[in-house]
Amino acid sequence: VPVPMQVSLAEKGNYRHFMAKEIHEQPEVIARTLSHYIDVGSGTLRDGAVPIDFSQIRRLSIAACGTAYYAGLVSRYWFERLARLPVDLDVASEYRYRAQAFPADELALFISQSGETADTLAGLRAAKAGGQQLATVVNVPTSTMAREADIVLPTLAGPEIGVASTKAFTCQLATLACLAVKAGIDRGTLSPLDAEGFLSALVELPRLVAEAVTLEHSIERVAKLVAPASSALFLGRGTSFAVAMEGALKLKELSYIHAEAYAAGELKHGPIALVDEELPVIVIAPFDDLFAKTVSNMQEVHARGGRIIAVTDARGAHAIGDTAEELIVLPDVPAFVAPVVATIPLQLLAYHAAIINGTDVDQPRNLAKSVTVE
Ligand code: G6P
Repeated sequence: VPVPMQVSLAEKGNYRHFMAKEIHEQPEVIARTLSHYIDVGSGTLRDGAVPIDFSQIRRLSIAACGTAYYAGLVSRYWFERLARLPVDLDVASEYRYRAQAFPADELALFISQSGETADTLAGLRAAKAGGQQLATVVNVPTSTMAREADIVLPTLAGPEIGVASTKAFTCQLATLACLAVKAGIDRGTLSPLDAEGFLSALVELPRLVAEAVTLEHSIERVAKLVAPASSALFLGRGTSFAVAMEGALKLKELSYIHAEAYAAGELKHGPIALVDEELPVIVIAPFDDLFAKTVSNMQEVHARGGRIIAVTDARGAHAIGDTAEELIVLPDVPAFVAPVVATIPLQLLAYHAAIINGTDVDQPRNLAKSVTVE
C-alpha cells in the first residue's frame, strides 16, 4: 500500500531514512513484541499468547521468503535445541511446489512481515488444502495471511516502510524464540527453571539491542572498508550462519555489493577460492560452543590474505586478537539471544555502506516491499 507523502515525511522524525529510524526503534518494538508473549513481572509466558500445544506436534514445517526465511532458519536451531522438535524449512517459492505429504501431525508455520507475499500465501493455502493446521508469525494483523491462518502470532514491530526489513526481522526472532520456549515446556525438554532462564534472557534483549545500536560510529568506519569492495563473504556457524545469511542479504539489497553467506564449515568446499586481499570477510563469531571452530576458519582466511571483520563479543574479541582487521565487539550475551544482538551491526553495516555508495536506502532498485506477484 503506498504511503501518502506527508505521512511518510512526518513519520521519519529526525532520521534521514526510514531504515535508520527502524533500526533505532528496535529496542522499543522488540520490548513491545516480547510483552505480548511474556509476563515480564512473573517471567513466564502469558496464558494463551501461544495457542499451540507442541506436545501434539511431531514436526514443524516453516516457509517464508527473504528476510522472514532467515528468521525461520534461526528458529530451526532453537526449536531443535530447546524442544527436540524436528523442523522442515523451505523458501515459500519452493515449498508451494514440492510434492509434500502434508502429515496431519505437522504444524505449518508461515512467517511474513506483510502477510501478503504471494509465494508465502500460496504455501499457506497449499498446506490448508493438505488439511494441516496453519500458524503465521505476521506483522500486519489485517493481512490475508492473518485472516486465513488458524493461529496468528503477531509481531508488534509497527509499520515498516524501508523496503529492506530490519525491525520486522528482530521482532520475528523475538516471537519465534517465545514459541521455542513454549515448545520446550510442552514437550518436556525444558524444566521450569530452564524455561525461566531462557525467558529472562529474552527480557534483557531490548537493553542489549540498544547497546548494540550504540556501536554505530565504529560500524561507520568498518563500512568504509566494505563499501568499495565488489564482493563480500559472510561466515558463521549455527544460528550465526543464519545471521550471516541475513547480513549478506542486507548488504546486497542496500549497497548492491555482491554478497554471499556460507556456513563457515563450508569455506573449504568452494568459497575459499574467492579469498584474496580485496575480499572483506565478515565473520559472525560469538563466544559460544562453536567459537573455536569458527576461529579456525578465520585463520584459514587470514592466512590467504583475506580481510576479516569479526562480529564478536567481549570474550571472543580477546581470543580473536589480530586475526581480524576490524572487530565489532558486542556485549557478552547468552547464546540463545546472540543472533538477535548480532543482527544489529550487520543492519548498520549495510546501511552505512549504502550511504557511502549513494544508493537509495529506503527503496533499493528493483525491489518491492511486498511482493504480491509470483
Ligand atoms: C520482499 C522484501 C523483503 C522481505 C520479503 C518477504 O522481498 O523486499 O524485505 O523479506 O519480501 O516479505 P514478507 O512481507 O513476506 O515478510
